[in-house]
Amino acid sequence: MSLADPQIKVQPVIRQLDEAAINRIAAGEVVERPASAVKELVENAVDAGATRIEVVIADGGKTLIRVTDNGCGIRGTDLPLALSRHATSKIDGSDLLNIQSFGFRGEALPSLGAAGRLTITSRAAGHDASQIKVAGGQISGVTPAALTGGTVVELCDLFYATPARLKFLRTDRAETQAITDVVKRLAMAEPFITVILRDTTGGDARTVFRADAETGDLFDALHGRLRTVLGREFAENALALDAERDGFHMTGYAALPTYSRGAAVAQFLFVNGRPVRDKMLLGALRAAYMDVLSRDRHPVAALFIDCDPTLVDVNVHPAKSEVRFRDPGAVRGLIVSGLRHALADAGHRASTTVATATLGAMQPQPTEPRVYQMDRSQQMDRPTRFTAQSMTFQSGFSEDRSARIEPVTEAPEAEALPLGAARAQVHENYIIAQTERGIVIVDQHAAHERLVYEKLKAQIAENGVAAQALLIPEVVEMDAGDVAMLLEIADDLARIGLTVERFGGDAVAVRETPAILGEVNATKLLRDVIDELRDQGDSATVRARIEAVLSRVACHGSIRSGRRMQGAEMNALLREMEATPLSGQCNHGRPTYVELKLSDIERLFGRT
Ligand SMILES: Nc1ncnc2c1ncn2[C@@H]1O[C@H](COP(=O)(O)OP(=O)(O)OP(=O)(O)O)[C@@H](O)[C@H]1O
Ligand SMILES: [Mg+2]
Repeated sequence: MSLADPQIKVQPVIRQLDEAAINRIAAGEVVERPASAVKELVENAVDAGATRIEVVIADGGKTLIRVTDNGCGIRGTDLPLALSRHATSKIDGSDLLNIQSFGFRGEALPSLGAAGRLTITSRAAGHDASQIKVAGGQISGVTPAALTGGTVVELCDLFYATPARLKFLRTDRAETQAITDVVKRLAMAEPFITVILRDTTGGDARTVFRADAETGDLFDALHGRLRTVLGREFAENALALDAERDGFHMTGYAALPTYSRGAAVAQFLFVNGRPVRDKMLLGALRAAYMDVLSRDRHPVAALFIDCDPTLVDVNVHPAKSEVRFRDPGAVRGLIVSGLRHALADAGHRASTTVATATLGAMQPQPTEPRVYQMDRSQQMDRPTRFTAQSMTFQSGFSEDRSARIEPVTEAPEAEALPLGAARAQVHENYIIAQTERGIVIVDQHAAHERLVYEKLKAQIAENGVAAQALLIPEVVEMDAGDVAMLLEIADDLARIGLTVERFGGDAVAVRETPAILGEVNATKLLRDVIDELRDQGDSATVRARIEAVLSRVACHGSIRSGRRMQGAEMNALLREMEATPLSGQCNHGRPTYVELKLSDIERLFGRT
């Protein structure tokens, strides 16, 4: 009898799997890669009340993962229980909707025991230390051990019994990276715990990450911890968040739009202290920044959502990395509005990295000896040391463009204002202003674009954008698909001051354009709008699409670079920027101005 013969059906037999097989299957879900094992073990240590957790790995966690904590420990008599499935000290099973700890299933340790060689050594207060081992599903007896307190869990040769799994693992470097990420996320959630990650590959131990326990109140502790984990630059460019809505509380820090990343790699979300990678939450974060970042930039943030545990189900994902809220709309609303408020309150603040990067580009090469002006004649035959200056002036400006400086009448009282008093316009696009502490360089085109955009948004919020009728409607030809796409949202376009009508099968007539733009090239404007809509695709909501269109439209009304401005006009622009929320970056997330402090300028000239 051949199984391959379709004519003969073999009656399947239903059998009960043995404990080892059940554990192996569960292990597949719980332990996907070394980083998931590290996550389970560190979470157990946190649940045990540890204040110090040390993780040691070797070969990307494939040969060794050892987690040592100073928590409550496990009594010798309880060790076999800790290794048996569905045995937990954290819940009594009566209320699965009220979970306060990381663990609750009693699955992690038995799963790890099925996936590798596991040794647990532990000592609970008032008891002797003891040890238990499990390998290939075989549990040893409990033996006495030496340990002063806490718990050491060692997991060796992960997946040695399941070679198929082993093959799916990435390089040691990639696995180490994933472990580091997991450890950092947990460290962010627990600022009062010292967290250390060491790599002992090849013998000598190397500290990969270390965060010492923070002190002070939770807010300060959190800020300190984020500074350690995400770096000083993040801490300096982050806005503190504190918002509440419908029983949900959001705290944490979100970076200014000018401090963004090229990929979504620095977005950290926590629900009731649990690190999650929830799609809904990530989407809300993205939506909150949509207005101030272009699509290829990604916000940087650490958001902590806290709520009554009964409002969120954490038992929906084997690695607990996704959650389900009872009222997802409320959480989304909280994130979007909380972040938008914080960003708006930040006003025209642009990230400090902008100035730092600018200075970095201008600093003469440190390895070269400094060449002062007076020495220059002797140095003429050498290549110039002023790479910085020459680079700055060559980039972006063609030779034939004037570097005319427009003198501006003094306005000393304006110097006390954040963006200072306009002193000059150079290259017909940059306004140089003097402040009390230094100078400010404004990109007039980018700044104005932002102002127009904010005005358009304000008009929409009131009663629609004022439109201005064209004397003669402008007919724009395009393909039928674009005609349909435009007409589909014609009502929404009308609300932003852009009135279009069908004009035959493959053209539309533009009747009105937003008044704020003044005289515009309607054809160009419409083509841009179409590009934007195409870029957006069908996935975006109408509101999102309209906002994106609005940002494009704003571009058309902006002072072009290359336009000469008078002093009063420049100062007016600066004052408007100060008064406008989010004016620190243009609609594409680029800065609209850079500030150089006097001390920075002095540093540049080696005066300090
Ligand atoms: N580091 C530790 N310190 C003290 N007790 C521990 C430690 N690790 C595990 N335990 C004990 O062993 C039990 C089983 O741990 P395990 O991780 O398997 O399950 P859990 O944490 O209860 O639930 P989950 O499967 O959701 O992680 C825990 O409930 C806890 O009592
Ligand atoms: Mg656990």
